[in-house]
Amino acid sequence: MIEYQRLIMADTVRTAAFEKALRTVVKPGCTLVDVGSGTGFLAFLASKFGAKRCILIEREPEFIKISKEMARRSNITNCTFICGDSRDIKKSFNADIVISETLGNFAYEENIIETLPDARRFLKSGGVMIPQSLRIHAAPVVRAAQWKEVTVWDRVGFDLDWSPCKERSVNNMYVKKVEKADLLPVPSHTTQWDEVLFAHGKIKSIRSANLSWKLNHPATIYGICLWWDCTLIPGITLSTSPFAPPTHWQQIFLPIPDPIAGASHDTIACTLRSDSRRSVKINVQWEVLHKDKTGKELVQCRMDMRRGAS
Ligand SMILES: C[S@@+](CC[C@H](N)C(=O)[O-])C[C@H]1O[C@@H](n2cnc3c(N)ncnc32)[C@H](O)[C@@H]1O
Repeated sequence: MIEYQRLIMADTVRTAAFEKALRTVVKPGCTLVDVGSGTGFLAFLASKFGAKRCILIEREPEFIKISKEMARRSNITNCTFICGDSRDIKKSFNADIVISETLGNFAYEENIIETLPDARRFLKSGGVMIPQSLRIHAAPVVRAAQWKEVTVWDRVGFDLDWSPCKERSVNNMYVKKVEKADLLPVPSHTTQWDEVLFAHGKIKSIRSANLSWKLNHPATIYGICLWWDCTLIPGITLSTSPFAPPTHWQQIFLPIPDPIAGASHDTIACTLRSDSRRSVKINVQWEVLHKDKTGKELVQCRMDMRRGAS
């Protein structure tokens, strides 16, 4: 588990953005709750910036042990450590700030849209929630590199039918580096699949929306790339876009079984659905539809992570 913490602490785009947000909002004497505290990094920064009391909530006992040890060795004495899932903690803290870095590569697989709305009960009226909003984007992938890796089964050979293996591989989402040159150039207003605001109201765990893109020239589509941008506080945003500085989150690649040969004026449509209910943790389904310029359906494929689970 420490390997994941090492990876995220080495991501200076991430650490710099959270540091900047905390420097802006932490006022001397304030109380902060860090939901999913890991090593304790965010709470410890807040303590250094003048917070009077920091409450660390972390479900992994090993991280509570590590963060207690770090606090002791760093002479930080104003922290309270609570081991458990924040959603099961009944206490109220009347905090000035609730912060949580529970952002997954896809964004929702660490259950941020369930955890953060629930954690609002730790916040006093008028308190600050970090992050404040999150948007997920999608665009078609027009270069073969990521698709070739996922569909290597087509080329394994040995006179065996590898299709049961390919069927499972293509029904999965992949954390991959996707470059901007890998994407179909599409207008930026056509990429937003979802948006969640953490400050108010309940957020539904089942998210679904359609996107579509018109081809200006012939292009081969190999799958869909996903990325997100997250507003920590107004003016401070973290992004996993292929157009932004790289982060440890990279991008998500959603494959399709066979490349789609698109002609000028054809449409590529994608229906994307995610389910991050606590009982599910995460499931993503994507349907890609290719229509010609008259609207006639040429290809349709439906992918579901549950089919790739075995
Ligand atoms: C990505 S790490 C972030 C650690 C640290 N806050 C940081 O920014 O460096 C997320 C941590 O949150 C914990 N976590 C996720 N959801 C949680 C929840 N609902 N309650 C308690 N811990 C949670 C995970 O176990 C993991 O250690």
